[in-house]
Amino acid sequence: MNPEDAIRAALADFDVADYLVAARSQGRAELPSSLRHDAAVLYRRIVDYREHHSQISRTLDDILDLAQRFLSSEAFFDHTPVPRYRAYTNLSVLNWYLCTIHRTPYQRIWKRCVTAIQLLLHDLLSFEVNSLAGLESRGADSFDPATVRHRVGLLRSTLAAFSGSEPNMTLLGPCAGLAWDDYVTDAGAECALLQLTAFPQTSEHDEYLFLRSIHISECCFWGVLTATLAAAEQVKRGDLLRGASCLHVALPFAALLTPLFQILKTMPPEHFRRFRAATGQASAVQSRTYQLMQIVLVGANPATIGFIADVDDLQGVAAYDHPAFPSLASLLKAAIVVESPAAGPLREGAAALDKELRKWRTLHLGIARKYLADLPMGTGGSSGPSYLKLSVQHTMQAAGDALNPDGGHEAVYGGECDEHDAQWRQTTKRPVFSVAPPLSRDN
Ligand code: HEM
Repeated sequence: MNPEDAIRAALADFDVADYLVAARSQGRAELPSSLRHDAAVLYRRIVDYREHHSQISRTLDDILDLAQRFLSSEAFFDHTPVPRYRAYTNLSVLNWYLCTIHRTPYQRIWKRCVTAIQLLLHDLLSFEVNSLAGLESRGADSFDPATVRHRVGLLRSTLAAFSGSEPNMTLLGPCAGLAWDDYVTDAGAECALLQLTAFPQTSEHDEYLFLRSIHISECCFWGVLTATLAAAEQVKRGDLLRGASCLHVALPFAALLTPLFQILKTMPPEHFRRFRAATGQASAVQSRTYQLMQIVLVGANPATIGFIADVDDLQGVAAYDHPAFPSLASLLKAAIVVESPAAGPLREGAAALDKELRKWRTLHLGIARKYLADLPMGTGGSSGPSYLKLSVQHTMQAAGDALNPDGGHEAVYGGECDEHDAQWRQTTKRPVFSVAPPLSRDN
């Protein structure tokens, strides 16, 4: 058999639909070890094939790329049984859907972020509604109908508020039983987003909420990160008004975080404790996108950089802790802004963004304190709520200093933030415009 036929046969031998059915029925941690091992072996075969073959047809390479991303979690668990953030959440697949894995115009990323948020909120809503109706086979443990009814109300209003009158969401056909090739078509990508990222470790009902909250937050972090990068590039060019428009694109992403965490808070702390151990060392402090967003907004926090330096998924992040990579906060304090008559709208945009993120940071800290009341450590290995409190204080202080009026690189942006910002506000808060490459490094 020639190598291409052999790799196609290996893909066909691993039935992804069977894996999904098994993982859904009992939680990923309970999957048969032989199935998990087969997944890890296929991952290594794909990596090997892609490394040693420079001429691969586009269609086959697209399939191999997605399969590799999906299987990378199982390959991780094959050598390290304790989950970490990226493997637990299958972020490689989420980032694939968001198009943040290649140099992609920011306009496309924003559209994808908006669609992904709508799809993921809708998926969570369907999961909860079907659970109430007795139609959901997943997440049966610790199911509390009264809690879920309240959650459904919040989910409906949050989805409606985010989508506005004109949802950006494609109505999905049935996603069950798809094969690898189906997922890489335009129509299949949405199924890949929903199906290939939803792997709670347990059958605890509220773990699905927890996992989806992470996925939706990651979309928000990407939206804020890329729009702030675009704003910074405009400011470096001296176009402060466009910089302000770019910050308005970040706003709806930042503003979604608080209602999302209000929904998360419907989870009783005792429910969280039933699956917390199964999430191992997975913590969003290991989120590459979040850490980059922080650096772009306010610069690196020395305590966080020291803490995350050894995290595999965050390699290279510390390199952005460099004076040649100015944050929005440092730009607000720079002469180009301080001495400009057009500084007002930019400061207002930055203040509005900071206000939304502050609300979320405070709520998240409250959740950490309440849910981890008598647990000294966070899952990410930090001192838990104590670490988080210091990190939040540092960020708020840095943002506050920059916004107080008394207090780079070559521009790469090529878009028109003001036009797109106007469209965003007139229609459904949808972000649309194009800028240079985002910061991404993904396996
Ligand atoms: C019951 C739910 C949650 C609890 C109890 C909680 C608790 C914590 C704690 C203790 C930390 C400190 C780092 C560590 O883990 O050691 C942390 C960090 C973090 N969490 Fe959560 N978290 C929860 C949900 C979430 C969700 C759904 C997200 C969404 C992605 C999230 C995003 C973050 C981020 C971005 C950090 C890093 C913050 C920083 O470094 O300043 N958390 N969380």
